[in-house]
Amino acid sequence: MRLLPSKKVVGEIAVPPDKSISHRALMMCSMSSGVSVVHNLLESEDTLRTFRIIGELGGNFRGGFDRMEISLASWKESLRPLDCGNSGTTARLMAGVLSGKEGFHVLFGDDSLSGRPMERVVRPLKEMGASISARQDSLLPMCITGGKLSGSEHSLSVASAQVKSAILLAGIQAEGTTAVTEPHCSRDHTERLLRSMGAKISVSNKRVEVEKSELLPIRFSIPGDVSSAAFPIALAVLHENGKVTIREVGLNQGRTGFLRLLIKMGADIEMEVEESLPEPVGTIVARSSRLIGVEVGSDLIPSMIDELPLIALAGVFAEGTTTVRGAGELRKKESDRISVTVQNFRRIGVEILEHEDGFSVEGPQRITGGKVDSYGDHRIAMLFSLAGPLSREGVEVTNSNAVNVSFPGFFKTLEEVCQ
Ligand code: S3P
Repeated sequence: MRLLPSKKVVGEIAVPPDKSISHRALMMCSMSSGVSVVHNLLESEDTLRTFRIIGELGGNFRGGFDRMEISLASWKESLRPLDCGNSGTTARLMAGVLSGKEGFHVLFGDDSLSGRPMERVVRPLKEMGASISARQDSLLPMCITGGKLSGSEHSLSVASAQVKSAILLAGIQAEGTTAVTEPHCSRDHTERLLRSMGAKISVSNKRVEVEKSELLPIRFSIPGDVSSAAFPIALAVLHENGKVTIREVGLNQGRTGFLRLLIKMGADIEMEVEESLPEPVGTIVARSSRLIGVEVGSDLIPSMIDELPLIALAGVFAEGTTTVRGAGELRKKESDRISVTVQNFRRIGVEILEHEDGFSVEGPQRITGGKVDSYGDHRIAMLFSLAGPLSREGVEVTNSNAVNVSFPGFFKTLEEVCQ
C-alpha cells in the first residue's frame, strides 16, 4: 500500500468494535447459562479465530457479528488442534477456559504467535491443577488436559490483562478462591464482564479475587475500539490541517492512556463519556496541535500498551525529546515492536534511538518518505500508514494487509479522512 502526502485530515468516522471485549464476549457468553445477546462484535482475523475455536468446542452461536445470540457451549473435546492464528488473546484466554474443561486440547498459532511467551499462563494454570505441556516448556503448540481446578494466589511480575484474564477464567471454574495481583493495573474488561454476568468477584486496587461462579447471560453492545481509534486521532493531531470525530468508542481508563498522554503533550483532544455500563462509551474529537516531548515510565505503560509505537510518531512532531522506557514487553508483541519501529522510522528519514526497553526521539523532524515493512504486525502496518499522509514524498508499506487482524477497512477509513 502506498500512502501519499495529504492536504488535510478531516471527517467523522466509525472505528471497528473493540477487539479485547469481543474475544471476551464470545468466550464468556459461551460459558454462561441462558441466551446472551451481543451487538457489534468485531469480525476480524483475530476474533474469527476465537469464534471458530469455540465453534469446534461445541459453541452455540446464532445470527451475525452485528447481533449474535450466544448460548452455553456443549464444551466437547475437539478432534482437531485449535488454530489461534496471530491472536495472543485467543491463545492465552482460551488456555484459561480449557484448563477447567474435561478433555485434551492442542492450541497452536502462526509463526509470530509461536515465538511469543506462554510460560506466563502455563505456570499459574498448572498451579491450579491443569495439566499442560508446551514446546520448549513455554511456547506454542501447547497441550492442555483440563478438569478439576483449585483456586490459588498469583502475583504477576509483568502487568498483563491476558494473563490476568486467563487466570480469572480458570478461577471461576475452580474450587475456592483465586486471586491475581499485578504490579500495575492492566485493562479490566474481564472483571467488568464477570461482574455484569453475576460472578463472585472483588477488585481492590491491583488485586482481583474470584470464586467459583455460574455466569448469567448478558445483553450488551460492544463499543468502538479505542486502540483502533488511536490511529486516526494521532493523524488528526499531528497533521497541520486536521479534525476527526469518533463516536461510540470505548473510553475505559485502562485503555485511554495514550489519549491522556497526547493531551499532556499539548494535544487538542476532547473525550466525553456518554454511557458507562458495562464499559464507558463516548465521543472523541481531535484537532491539529503543537506538541511538546514527554517521558513515559513503566507505571503508564499498561494503559497504552498497544499504542506505544504511536508515541514515537508523536515524538517526531513534538518539540524536544520524547522517551519511552520500561516497555520491554513491546519486544514480545506480534513483532518486536521496539526494533521494527526504530528500523522503519530510519527507512523514512527519521532519527530515533533504540533502548533495550523503549526508544527516544528528538523533535520536530520532517518525514521524507520511503518504503517500510509491517513484519506482519497489524499495529505496525497502521502506524507507518499514518506516516504517508504526514510525509513529504509518501510511504509504501509492504505486508499491509496485516491491518485485517484488528481493523478491516483501515485503508478505506484513511482514504475517507485524507483529502
Ligand atoms: C490484550 C492485552 C494486551 C494487549 C493485547 C490485548 C487483551 O496484552 O497488548 O493487544 O485483550 O487482554 P498483554 O496483556 O499481554 O499486555
